[in-house]
Amino acid sequence: MIFVTGGAGFIGSNFVLDWLGQCDEPVLNFDKLTYAGNMHNLAALKDDARHLFVRGDICDGEQVLALLRQHRPRAVLHFAAESHVDRSIHAPGDFINTNINGTFSLLEATRAYWSELDADAKAAFRFLHVSTDEVYGTLGPDDAPFSETTAYAPNSPYSASKAASDHLVRSYHHTYGLPTLTTNCSNNYGPYHFPEKLIPLVIANALAGKPLPIYGDGQQVRDWLYVSDHCAAIRRVLDAGRLGETYNVGGWNEMANLDVVRALCTILDRLAPKAGAPVSYLEQLTYVADRPGHDRRYAIDAGKIERELGWKPAETFDSGIFKTVQWYLSNQAWVADVQSGAYANWVEQNYLNREAAA
Ligand code: NAD
Ligand code: TYD
Repeated sequence: MIFVTGGAGFIGSNFVLDWLGQCDEPVLNFDKLTYAGNMHNLAALKDDARHLFVRGDICDGEQVLALLRQHRPRAVLHFAAESHVDRSIHAPGDFINTNINGTFSLLEATRAYWSELDADAKAAFRFLHVSTDEVYGTLGPDDAPFSETTAYAPNSPYSASKAASDHLVRSYHHTYGLPTLTTNCSNNYGPYHFPEKLIPLVIANALAGKPLPIYGDGQQVRDWLYVSDHCAAIRRVLDAGRLGETYNVGGWNEMANLDVVRALCTILDRLAPKAGAPVSYLEQLTYVADRPGHDRRYAIDAGKIERELGWKPAETFDSGIFKTVQWYLSNQAWVADVQSGAYANWVEQNYLNREAAA
């Protein structure tokens, strides 16, 4: 079996669903179920014996080690993290705990388990660390995209904590020989994306008649990748990645935030026209104060994973974003569910104190 951390979050749950859609190898899904973890994402696996869910914290090395010894996975795939940049600005402590201390505890438990394996199992074992392009910092408009040799220059508490975790993983390969792999991926979008992040937030707010908040001038650039393409890249790296290596994963799809929001409004105008149409959802667009330390541009050179492992994204932005809007329109109960409770408090904290910008 494989041991997945954070498999109730956005990318983790997509990964687990894709994995069990493609093979019968069981998954032990270990997740703390923070505000971002949602068992509804995994509802399709409720009666599926191939999926074993255990609630727990990666900081609890003893629990992790006991589970590893009991279930003897051939790989650990590490998705669990605090993942929202804005939250890391308001309250960085959780990011240090989970992303740095939690990754350290997980590595220690994995190393202890791995060292007890016989020679064949040891050689076949993999620890795959899921990371982000944000560790590389920010690019100017004419800079070359991030490659695997770009120097780390994280700018937010989130990206700094992920950079630290990447370094720990690297060190466990070089020092202890742990068979590690790291992926650094660009911004994902797709089903089960928590509506605090730009794309699902804009869809939800548009439908609710609320403002579509654009930080600063909206000209910040991100490279967007449909989540199932990221999942396919992770499977490919797990199968054939070279030990100790890192692989950048991206969609070759740089877009300014304003253009992403315009694309969403255009699709929504077509699929779910506003009452009184031809009024467009674009009328809800609202410029708000910028994020402190906001990285201007991310871009990924995904040439290494393409050349070495033959991975390429299957979706274009047009096809992926259309599917995404359709998914949110068909799953409004899922959105309503996550928008209750603690999420409502977060919205208040993040947006009410931002002065509307001209
Ligand atoms: P997410 O916030 O949606 O989900 C994180 C999951 O981890 C949740 O289910 C949460 O309950 C769980 N978790 C948090 N702390 C935990 C702990 N201490 N112990 C166990 N479980 C814990 O995040 P996501 O967007 O799915 O991102 C998954 C991974 O991919 C992260 O490592 C993130 O850095 C990385 N990543 C994300 C993106 C993106 O665009 N979302 C892009 C590149 C890389
Ligand atoms: P986000 O989805 O938070 O991802 P990340 O910060 O990891 O790239 O944000 C994507 C971009 O959208 C980022 O440049 C910040 C911007 N943004 C807004 O303009 N308004 C918003 O309300 C949010 C959440 C993000």
